[in-house]
Amino acid sequence: METVLSGIRSTGHMHLGNYFGALRNFVKIQDTYNCFFFIADLHSLTTHPHPDDFHANVKIILSEYLAAGLDPEKCALYVQSDVPEISELYVLLNMIAYVGELERTTTFKDKVRLNPNNVNAGLLTYPVLMASDILSHRANWVPVGKDQEPHLEIARVLARRFNNTYGVELFPEPYAFNFGHDLVKVPGLDGSGKMGKSEGNGIYLIDDDKTITRKVMHAVTDSGPTEPDSEMSEPVANIFTLMKLVSDPDIVRQFEAAYADCSIRYGDLKKQLAADICKTVAPIRERIGSIYNDDAYLSKVVATGRDKARASASATLKLAQQAIGFRTF
Ligand code: TYM
Repeated sequence: METVLSGIRSTGHMHLGNYFGALRNFVKIQDTYNCFFFIADLHSLTTHPHPDDFHANVKIILSEYLAAGLDPEKCALYVQSDVPEISELYVLLNMIAYVGELERTTTFKDKVRLNPNNVNAGLLTYPVLMASDILSHRANWVPVGKDQEPHLEIARVLARRFNNTYGVELFPEPYAFNFGHDLVKVPGLDGSGKMGKSEGNGIYLIDDDKTITRKVMHAVTDSGPTEPDSEMSEPVANIFTLMKLVSDPDIVRQFEAAYADCSIRYGDLKKQLAADICKTVAPIRERIGSIYNDDAYLSKVVATGRDKARASASATLKLAQQAIGFRTF
């Protein structure tokens, strides 16, 4: 059975980008693959969260995963830092990762540009830790959004390089995937770019109907089409991208036709989008609260997940150590 793995950094509540980029389709395949899903709390340390927030953020993401449909009986659901074997493999992989290739990663260059005062070594080797997450379970497939593609490329390079260096077939090359669909980039509501936590342009799984409706009604658009079949501006195309994720295809087609013949009213478009996002989010939001408050359940979930993940990661680590030449006295 092939292995599928994905993770989300614990840096705040989950938004629609995380849900549609990584989680929604994952939830559907828990019976078909050997599944690992985890909370990347070590990755969240690159931005130095306050100690009071560090654990709280893990709890939030864990509750939201479960509310969105991850089944801890079917997949290994765990906290990254509960599995020390991942950090150990990360050390080993760092020895075959070259500074030049890490510096050239587009995501690293973006971080340096946006945050020149915090270019720490953890940021540079972020993709190596991510490769360790994936290779620890020898995963074949990694459901992620489009923004993670450069990291998957590095994971493949390191898998290949390890196998070649030590003459083994230990690591399969992992590929990003979205279950037969293209990888998605869920746009924000501010007219350009992706939905993200730091961008402040997101709709969160925890948002109530009123908040969702207010955010959608304030989304950036333009002054409307003036000629039939004119090309959409980026902000309007973004609204349609969101709509395709949550609305019935017939409804999307109706609004596309209205855009094409210039009869579209953006107020109606946004009202429809808001209603359909609410329909997607409401049942998840309702579950988040009760799960979040059930500490006994959450601690059982992470303990079970940790045991499953450690069993798998320690088997891989042992094989990697043997290949490198570690021997017991
Ligand atoms: P993170 O926490 O930034 O995002 C988690 C997942 O959500 C996806 N995502 C999006 N997809 C589409 N459109 C968007 N606007 C959008 N915003 C976020 C991301 O692509 C990602 O799949 N480095 C990872 C976490 C990680 C990981 C891993 C993932 C650590 N180790 C191993 C997979 C495998 C990250 O920062 O994701």
